[in-house]
Amino acid sequence: SKDTIILGIETSCDETAVAIVKNGTEIISNVVSSQIESHKRFGGVVPEIASRHHVEQMTLVLEQAFDEGQITWNEIDAIAVTEGPGLVGALLVGVNSAKALAFAKQKPLVGVHHIAGHIYANRLEQEFDFPLLALIVSGGHTELVIMKEHGQYEVIGETRDDAAGEAYDKVARMLGLPYPGGPHIDRLAHEGKETIDFPRAWLEDGSYDFSFSGLKSAVINKIHNAKQRGEMLKDEDIAASFQASVVEVLTKKTLRAAKEYKVKQVIVAGGVAANKGLRTALANAFSETDIPLYVPPLSLCTDNAAMIAAAGTINYWNGKRAGLDLNANASLLL
Ligand code: KG4
Ligand code: ZN
Repeated sequence: SKDTIILGIETSCDETAVAIVKNGTEIISNVVSSQIESHKRFGGVVPEIASRHHVEQMTLVLEQAFDEGQITWNEIDAIAVTEGPGLVGALLVGVNSAKALAFAKQKPLVGVHHIAGHIYANRLEQEFDFPLLALIVSGGHTELVIMKEHGQYEVIGETRDDAAGEAYDKVARMLGLPYPGGPHIDRLAHEGKETIDFPRAWLEDGSYDFSFSGLKSAVINKIHNAKQRGEMLKDEDIAASFQASVVEVLTKKTLRAAKEYKVKQVIVAGGVAANKGLRTALANAFSETDIPLYVPPLSLCTDNAAMIAAAGTINYWNGKRAGLDLNANASLLL
């Protein structure tokens, strides 16, 4: 049968990304233009700046995706775009670009949930085997999701306050590290030791929810009190102790959920999936089970459009179509 070739567009946060993917599994091209440098001096993503960058970059990134893929519009079956969640002004640039292209090129339009994209980044590497458990850990999300079939998502746990990546970025900021702080904390953690016993938020018995704001406050208090007492605290040890808390909770809850739901596969997604401490802890935990664990390569962990095209392929095959009235939805549910 004929191949399905999908153009993906992603602009939910600070990456302007366009990709072309075949059959939801094969990357033809994958172009990401990061704005991190523009946001660094503000210590986080500034929504207005993000929207403007997306507008400036979109045409270039789109052209590059076609150039790199050596593909023409004739070969594209549909356009998939992130409709939410994310920064509304940023999302709108992608949604409006996709709508204009769908109209001009007479192609079907498909809306994609950003988290579904992060999950489907894994299918670019490894075919899914259901039921599967996905741990999504990014700057905006911390979720455990059960999938029994393609395109079906059951959220069994989520953060009640900060996302894991958000906690990393906030702690990094306290330590004077640049945005985004996750990779810096990860690096420092490997040079330090777990000398501080930070809390683990297990929540109620059996809960798969997460909470990271208490941990963040504990880190702030620790740094503050040490300063007042003239106590020497090494940044490396703070990072190692903080990371140990985050990683232990994420790993244990993921392992427990995988066993309870008797899944055939565990996949990890989102920017924090790039974390070396988390990757090692999960690999160790699952090596003692017969459940295979898959973690995408670093380039597919952080925001990109190949993952949006991959998830969009499933929506397209399932007959889901968006109209030219498609709107950005900052708080879209999975
Ligand atoms: O998925 P992503 O690129 O964007 C969102 O959808 O949020 O995730 C970005 C988040 C940031 O919070 C960043 O600090 C975090 O992922 N991150 C990491 C690492 N690399 C990126 N956190 C911990 N360790 C890392 N190595
Ligand atoms: Zn993301």
